[in-house]
Amino acid sequence: MILYPPLQIRIGIAFTSISLTPLNGISYTMEFRNLSSGDVPGILQIQQEAYKPEFIESSSVFEQRIQLFPAGCLGCFEASKFIAYAIAHPWRLGEIVPFDSLIEKIPLDADCLYIHDVAVSHDHGQEGIARRFITMLVEIAQSRGLKALTGVAVQKSEGIWHRLGFIEKHKLEYAPGGPGKYVIRKLDADESRTKKKRLI
Ligand SMILES: CC(C)(COP(=O)(O)OP(=O)(O)OC[C@H]1O[C@@H](n2cnc3c(N)ncnc32)[C@H](O)[C@@H]1OP(=O)(O)O)[C@@H](O)C(=O)NCCC(=O)NCCS
Repeated sequence: MILYPPLQIRIGIAFTSISLTPLNGISYTMEFRNLSSGDVPGILQIQQEAYKPEFIESSSVFEQRIQLFPAGCLGCFEASKFIAYAIAHPWRLGEIVPFDSLIEKIPLDADCLYIHDVAVSHDHGQEGIARRFITMLVEIAQSRGLKALTGVAVQKSEGIWHRLGFIEKHKLEYAPGGPGKYVIRKLDADESRTKKKRLI
């Protein structure tokens, strides 16, 4: 079990630090900041570690998302070591961005924040990093008037998404030979208030 101090996230400012104190008593600080194209090699390394071969995407996909919507591209660092990332951008509810594909632009009628990918290095699994990314993404979505977070759960991660407040909508063949489940977390006023309390 890890003891989490109060979370301080300042959306709009590209940097936040969080100290964690595991039961072994050795505390360490994780830093969250927006990603830039210089972080892509690190993303690819974490991706390689976190995903089966059928779910590996090209560097151009990450480059493009960072360029199109840097606010939704977050990295987590421990002592300057890149240990986790989340990539998200506005999109349309109910629509899935094809695997390993470039998108033309962020749609003007976007109504949700589409989580393209969240991956955490093995050494730092179950430390609450994905939960913190989701908290940040909820705030980003709300600040832009988007009404849901959406994404595709792969590698049997739907249980984790469920714990993070998402519900499954339908199954799909996401990558060639790689099944997934479309998941959604609505952010209508009441629900977002409740979830926010629970997450923070
Ligand atoms: C899925 C993934 C991003 C979760 O990241 P994480 O930082 O370990 O998740 P968190 O520690 O924030 O945990 C979130 C919730 O899921 C639970 N959880 C996380 N990993 C779990 C596991 N392996 N088994 C069961 N529950 C798990 C946690 O207990 C937590 O729930 P709680 O707070 O209610 O107790 C990470 O496991 C990963 O990178 N997996 C490989 C890539 C992947 O499949 N990504 C998802 C598809 S997009």
